[in-house]
Amino acid sequence: MPPIINILLFIISWLVAPSAGNCECGYTAAIGSSTLQTSNFLFTDIIESDFLHIRNISLDTDWRRQSFAVTPEAGRGPYGMNFTVNNVLSNPISDLNNWTGPGVLGGDAGLHFTVDHGIPTDGYVKVSELDSSRTDLLWGTYRASMKLSLTPGTCAAFFWYFNDSQEIDMEFLSSQFIVENNTFPVNLVLQSDQSVQAGFNAAGSSNFKLVNLPFNPTIGYHEYRFDFVPGNVIFLADDKELATMDSSAVPKQPGHLILTNWSNGNNKWSFGPPAEDSVISVAYVKAYFNSSLSDRQSAWATRCKGSISPDAICAIPDLEHPPNPAAPASTGTISTPATFFFSDQKNMTDNQTVYHKSKGTTTALGVFQQTIAMLVTLTFIITILL
Ligand SMILES: *[C@@H]1O[C@H](CO)[C@@H](O)[C@H](O)[C@H]1NC(C)=O
Ligand SMILES: *[C@@H]1O[C@H](CO)[C@@H](O)[C@H](O)[C@H]1NC(C)=O
Ligand SMILES: *[C@@H]1O[C@H](CO)[C@@H](O)[C@H](O)[C@H]1NC(C)=O
Ligand SMILES: *[C@@H]1O[C@H](CO)[C@@H](O)[C@H](O)[C@H]1NC(C)=O
Ligand SMILES: *[C@@H]1O[C@H](CO)[C@@H](O)[C@H](O)[C@H]1NC(C)=O
Ligand SMILES: *[C@@H]1O[C@H](CO)[C@@H](O)[C@H](O)[C@H]1NC(C)=O
Ligand SMILES: *[C@@H]1O[C@H](CO)[C@@H](O)[C@H](O)[C@H]1NC(C)=O
Ligand SMILES: *[C@@H]1O[C@H](CO)[C@@H](O)[C@H](O)[C@H]1NC(C)=O
Ligand SMILES: *[C@@H]1O[C@H](CO)[C@@H](O)[C@H](O)[C@H]1NC(C)=O
Repeated sequence: MPPIINILLFIISWLVAPSAGNCECGYTAAIGSSTLQTSNFLFTDIIESDFLHIRNISLDTDWRRQSFAVTPEAGRGPYGMNFTVNNVLSNPISDLNNWTGPGVLGGDAGLHFTVDHGIPTDGYVKVSELDSSRTDLLWGTYRASMKLSLTPGTCAAFFWYFNDSQEIDMEFLSSQFIVENNTFPVNLVLQSDQSVQAGFNAAGSSNFKLVNLPFNPTIGYHEYRFDFVPGNVIFLADDKELATMDSSAVPKQPGHLILTNWSNGNNKWSFGPPAEDSVISVAYVKAYFNSSLSDRQSAWATRCKGSISPDAICAIPDLEHPPNPAAPASTGTISTPATFFFSDQKNMTDNQTVYHKSKGTTTALGVFQQTIAMLVTLTFIITILL
């Protein structure tokens, strides 16, 4: 075939090609485990937050920084806690297309959660919490990429919450980390009516497991994940299964997501407050879930009706490698591949309500780039035809 035909065919196919999958029927994940042999679960809604690039958390409508106080009595510790919005701070990588390097404030890129160090003069330790705005999160696969810190005396957690007896927790107590033995446990908890009655102590029940992570969570970013499906909760770290819980404590109500870092000196749990400030960095949260809201359910039914094209259901990619913007130079890593977000693709989050990190700025840039690409192509065609 003469090259010109090839080129024309290429251009025609490019012009008429259907857009990539639109995911209008939802997102699927293989949720397997030793006790739960299932194939794919379908989820209709998403929240995706790229904290390595979201510039200002206070503008992100998917999340709310929390401001409230917990008295020493209510928190069962010698100190109270003052959840302070300024203790949740964005530290993005300046270049939207770069996934490696420090944040604009220096240090690890991502969203920083801090517990202030030292004995608080007013009896309240300044701590941090971020909640999802949506509270209609039901069955789903919930993922957060975080880098923890070794500073003892804090409890960092990624959890899902409806009320004190319907709660799914991944809690990291820095006092439990033993570097010399390479032991880094995570506390996996389903709170239940029983644990509430036992004074918030799920220990000893099948709803509590202390599991060692297969890596050092204070070196690099790792993905912590729980899959919450009817009757089962499966906990994973970097896609490796840590535990499955299938008791009656598996929640049944819709809830919201919480990222938090706290300390109240409680000598059975958080210990602390820490002797020095140190911060965890959250690279992203990805949540694919079903909504409990009837208008979200009927919106799904409307956009997914009729014949279903193969690309109407999008597979959630497996974690190929955790993002590692803080890769030490010694590993020779110059850049980390981008982490996949449906919300970064054209038209793969149709009818979703995700906050777009590049709102405003790159839309204009995108239009500009497309226009230039179009002009170049046209010039090219004309040149060849002439
Ligand atoms: C986006 O997806 C919707 C639903 O499938 C479709 O109607 C629309 O044409 C798509 N738009 C583009 C620009 O691909
Ligand atoms: C989520 O909702 C969709 C649409 O109703 C349904 O097909 C799917 O099975 C639900 N997923 C789970 C895990 O129940
Ligand atoms: C983030 O946005 C808020 C609200 O517009 C603004 O007050 C604040 O100064 C911004 N912070 C940064 C670091 O740009
Ligand atoms: C929490 O911190 C804020 C800001 O420093 C302060 O105004 C407030 O009084 C504190 N609340 C408690 C209960 O300590
Ligand atoms: C990303 O930023 C890092 C640190 O600033 C820099 O070393 C690297 O060259 C950049 N990578 C790309 C692909 O721009
Ligand atoms: C949580 O909600 C469930 C269902 O509404 C209820 O049965 C339970 O008592 C609640 N737990 C607490 C601690 O309020
Ligand atoms: C580390 O492991 C060794 C051998 O099991 C044990 O003797 C030691 O007490 C452990 N260190 C700590 C700090 O737990
Ligand atoms: C919690 O705060 C402490 C003290 O500031 C810090 O060392 C730790 O890294 C933080 N953890 C998380 C998960 O933010
Ligand atoms: C989703 O589509 C429904 C109609 O199918 C519409 O009423 C609703 O406003 C849309 N929601 C979003 C967030 O786009």
